[in-house]
Amino acid sequence: MTSEADPLTLVLVGPMAAGKTSVGRRAARILGVPFVDTDKRVVSAHGPIPEIFAQFGESRFREVERDAVATALAEGGVVSLGGGAVTDADTRELLREHPVVFLMVSPEAVAHRLGGGGRPLLAGEDPVSAWSRIFEERRGWYEEVASATFDTSRRPMQRIAEEIAAWRRGLE
Ligand code: S3P
Repeated sequence: MTSEADPLTLVLVGPMAAGKTSVGRRAARILGVPFVDTDKRVVSAHGPIPEIFAQFGESRFREVERDAVATALAEGGVVSLGGGAVTDADTRELLREHPVVFLMVSPEAVAHRLGGGGRPLLAGEDPVSAWSRIFEERRGWYEEVASATFDTSRRPMQRIAEEIAAWRRGLE
């Protein structure tokens, strides 16, 4: 049984544009728990992500991201992380006590999701090549922290959210 003090907490990790926010919001609705996107928390507290990178560097971004992850996990619910959160060893440590889903996606499927900008690590290079290189660098960390993997390349986000919610309920 889940009490108010112990909601069905679940963390979503995975590369940029895998659908973490989209699936996370839907999964939270199905589970009836709050949804937190840690990127949004960082932006609310510190301003736009490209400006944080430009002014203070990636390491400062990882620090404020880690704080946002710690706060969100303490609150509970469905928590969606930025794609690079797993590169920080202390953030990975925070994830150890929680069910973590690795949302993966193919380069072909991600190609048409990468518009819109706002992702400093994809600026200045062919975005799909940059995305693929970064994904390969991080794949081991996603696999290390995850207790389940779902592929968002070819199926509706709602279906994936339903499967994740069912998987999470099954852990109780
Ligand atoms: C980043 C991913 C972004 C955001 C920041 C850095 C990364 O989040 O946290 O631009 O290092 O992969 P999304 O995965 O939501 O795009």
